[in-house]
Amino acid sequence: MKQVETSVHLRARGVSVLIELPDGEPPRILHWGGDLGEFGENGIAFARRAVPHSRPATDVRPGLIAQEATGFLGHPTLTGSRNGLAWSPSFVVESVSESDDSVVFEMTDPLAQLRISSTLSIDRSGILAVSHRLTNEGTDPYSVGELALALPVPLAANEILDMGGRWSLERQPQRRPLETGTWLRELRHGRTGFDSPLVFAAGTPGFNNRSGTVWAVHFAWSGNSRLWAERTPEGDQSLAAAELLGPGGEILQPGESYETPTLFGAWSDRGVDGIGSRFHERLRSRPRHPRTARPVTFNTWEAVYFDQTPETLSHLAEVAARYGVERFVLDDGWFLGRRDDARGLGDWRVDREVWAEGLEPLVTTVRQLGMQFGIWVEPEMVNPDSGLFRAHPDWILHVPGRDEPLLWRNQYVLDLSRQDVFDYLIDALDDLLTDHPISYLKWDHNRDLLDAGKADGRHGVHATTLGVYRLMDELRLRHPTVEIESCSSGGARVDLAILERTDRVWGSDTNDALDRHLIQRWTSVLLPPELVGSHVGPPTAHITGRTHDLGFRASNAVFGSFGIEWDIARATPAETAGLDTAIAFFKRFRDLIHSGELVHGDLPNPSATLQGVVAKDGSEALYQFSQLTSPPIAVPGPLPFPGLRADFSYRVKGIELPAHAHPAQHVMPAWWDDQELTVSGQVLSTLGLALPGLGPEQAVFVHLTQVPPAGL
Ligand code: DGJ
Repeated sequence: MKQVETSVHLRARGVSVLIELPDGEPPRILHWGGDLGEFGENGIAFARRAVPHSRPATDVRPGLIAQEATGFLGHPTLTGSRNGLAWSPSFVVESVSESDDSVVFEMTDPLAQLRISSTLSIDRSGILAVSHRLTNEGTDPYSVGELALALPVPLAANEILDMGGRWSLERQPQRRPLETGTWLRELRHGRTGFDSPLVFAAGTPGFNNRSGTVWAVHFAWSGNSRLWAERTPEGDQSLAAAELLGPGGEILQPGESYETPTLFGAWSDRGVDGIGSRFHERLRSRPRHPRTARPVTFNTWEAVYFDQTPETLSHLAEVAARYGVERFVLDDGWFLGRRDDARGLGDWRVDREVWAEGLEPLVTTVRQLGMQFGIWVEPEMVNPDSGLFRAHPDWILHVPGRDEPLLWRNQYVLDLSRQDVFDYLIDALDDLLTDHPISYLKWDHNRDLLDAGKADGRHGVHATTLGVYRLMDELRLRHPTVEIESCSSGGARVDLAILERTDRVWGSDTNDALDRHLIQRWTSVLLPPELVGSHVGPPTAHITGRTHDLGFRASNAVFGSFGIEWDIARATPAETAGLDTAIAFFKRFRDLIHSGELVHGDLPNPSATLQGVVAKDGSEALYQFSQLTSPPIAVPGPLPFPGLRADFSYRVKGIELPAHAHPAQHVMPAWWDDQELTVSGQVLSTLGLALPGLGPEQAVFVHLTQVPPAGL
């Protein structure tokens, strides 16, 4: 640990976080943004502001712990009380421990008998992580209303980008000006939520995929939360988040602590892509980040739903294997009584009425065909019509005394803060994984939590969220090689806390390639493509009723963790051939897609998108040009290809996945069939390439490979 002066300066990858340690006050983040370099002897006087009239006599700033006691009247960091007292804490720094990339501030308020330990760290991708732990050092209970995490952003960041969404249309971007006051998002679903802003950002006016300076936060929590942007009349502006604790808050008995989830902050001076690229780099550097080629997955859900028989599924497995599928996932419907979504949840034993010989024959077939076997579970839920509920009606989250909590998809939520519930579930899951050679769990969670009370009557979302983390952690300890997919009615549990314990997310329930394209685009601001499941669904999407040709469906799915979710036993010969090509394409390019830098062009109108992945050394790139709606202009002009090395030359190859209908609006530029076209990176990134004029819901790819300089 270094000797700490009056400030702390964390730096990484072009990012600086400058923290001042004022006398008698919590530390203040004076700057989070571009690198400040080394600053010399004069310390940080340059950053102290003038004191305006009609204010306390000091430069009041929110501080890491924003508090009224030192003059700040914006959103406070800590709300809570000791039975109505100790409501205005005043923390002072007791100690500071600093290393090269992190700092821990120990702060106390002897009067309120509270301690806060705040940790800030910056990783090699320049992502800042902040969290607090609050401890009750008094002799009577302290009730925490909210413990918030806030990062300052400069006034230049006056446009907000966050996300809304609903079932089967997650992560819809929304923008608005950041003005005096608060823009608040509350997520009370008891899970992360379809409408959870994966990133909540503020940037310079008009910031775009590749332009503008952007500050973005992600709140790593799968329970209830609040995220907000605030500008005070004094000009303090911040992006903030807090766990939304239940009424009455979290009661801390003497000596007990409450820990916040982590708030991650990413800064970029090259638009939204710079934010995504930092998050992707962070995620890819995790020890448990999936490092094997992401397997082509077949999921049975939209192929058979609950209509499972050993014969149908063995047949599907054989068909899947012929396509070169590498992972076969048996979805919902395999366990006791589960003939529809009204019964069975909780009874995690194979239904012998359907599976007379158990799952072994299917698992054996799948494995003999060279595929991994995966299976669906929804451990946190129970149907009233189940053996588990009949035996333990008291195991559900509910308001005691109110007999019939609201059903949602015919199910209740188990109270995972109970040890007996935890024990039952860990045993059931452990048995399932021990008894069968299962490589993959699709872990679903199909409802919001309503009236989620624990047995003691108190609000249970906080405890049950920690309960599911504990359950997953314990299961992974026992079965470290099993991968887990986080599914929640599609994409309602996507956040970096669940991703600490899972290996893939199901992006959405919709396999409609058009909706899915944009869902994936906005999911990718946080997650790299290898973590986001994306399947080729049936020709007519079951959720929207919209029909897309295979070319468009497959084009979309290859830019993720590719899979198929469609009754391929009934595919026509043309579809079979098309799917073969799409799978070969994915296998050919998955290493690049799953390791390169994801880039997005800024196009002249929103009818089309241009996204690409560029290899880290710039030697190869794959771009996808997707015409989403009818183009307002007949053919796109040359479009610049972002992310390339200007000093390289590239061989250019156009690729179209098969089975696109070829209507009148499908015209190729002259170079399309030229096998020898070479263009400099400078031209490609400045002027760009002329692209095909496509009709709506069509996509093409452009593959670029570096041409070695002459003489080599
Ligand atoms: C919701 C999921 O998102 C679907 O993919 C499927 O697994 C169903 N649940 C099964 O009930």
